Amino acid sequence: MAEQQPHPLQIEDWKGRTPSANWLSEFRKLDLSIAGRRVLDIGCGMGYYGDLLAGLGAEVYGLDRQEEFVKSAKSKRYRGAIRANATELPVADSSLDLVYARYVLHHIPRGQLFGLIGNIYRSLSDGGYLLIESTTPELANRHHDIQIYPKLKSIIASMYPSIETFADLLSRAGFQAIEITETTQTRDPYCNVHSALERSALLASTGGGPTYWLQLNEAERKEFHDVRCNELIRIFGDGPVERQWSGYFLVAVKGDAT
Ligand SMILES: C[S@@+](CC[C@H](N)C(=O)[O-])C[C@H]1O[C@@H](n2cnc3c(N)ncnc32)[C@H](O)[C@@H]1O
Repeated sequence: MAEQQPHPLQIEDWKGRTPSANWLSEFRKLDLSIAGRRVLDIGCGMGYYGDLLAGLGAEVYGLDRQEEFVKSAKSKRYRGAIRANATELPVADSSLDLVYARYVLHHIPRGQLFGLIGNIYRSLSDGGYLLIESTTPELANRHHDIQIYPKLKSIIASMYPSIETFADLLSRAGFQAIEITETTQTRDPYCNVHSALERSALLASTGGGPTYWLQLNEAERKEFHDVRCNELIRIFGDGPVERQWSGYFLVAVKGDAT
């Protein structure tokens, strides 16, 4: 079956998703010692995050199914990057110390997730880690846009597997000591409602925007923008408009962590 290509607007959104200023401090709180460790960043995108991990001394490799992302990762501090489907994971047994999957596993068809997690387990050394970074509907729903436009709630709910789903798949694959840490990544706020609305005005006219906005149809995009015009003023008045996204880090260990 032909591989389904992401929409060009989706790719544009991924390109623009640079790390928030507090990502590194949120990562450090996990207390994972990664200096000198072999890390595979699956679904590495532009390579912004693996680049930060390389800055902490890790030996980082990337994998993505989009050629332009592989190229971008190679131009950063990655030791190498390959174009591949994560579900095939062309990696030798026990050859990695950490597999990092940031906002990628929800793109894998649900029926293939268990196979992928089993493959990640196989690729890790004993004591190695799988680090999943993602969100849940409950955490994502804290965002003001999702609260003011309920259609987005159902989109988010269908996008992200629950933590229970992952915990079940991970323990069935053999992982132990599964720990979840909530994270809120914060960007500089929009200076006012007007500048926040520029983004949804663009969505209404061109269809571009964050992944979950992209799933709105044309009429919904216009309606969402109208709702924002009223509701953002009600919530933020003349003040700055916050930009925060809540998610989690999930760390699972292969074998006994002690
Ligand atoms: C939301 S982006 C996240 C990118 C990066 N991890 C980050 O946080 O910036 C999802 C990435 O996963 C990649 N991807 C999706 N499905 C994939 C698959 N089956 N195999 C490899 N890469 C995949 C996409 O090309 C995209 O780069």
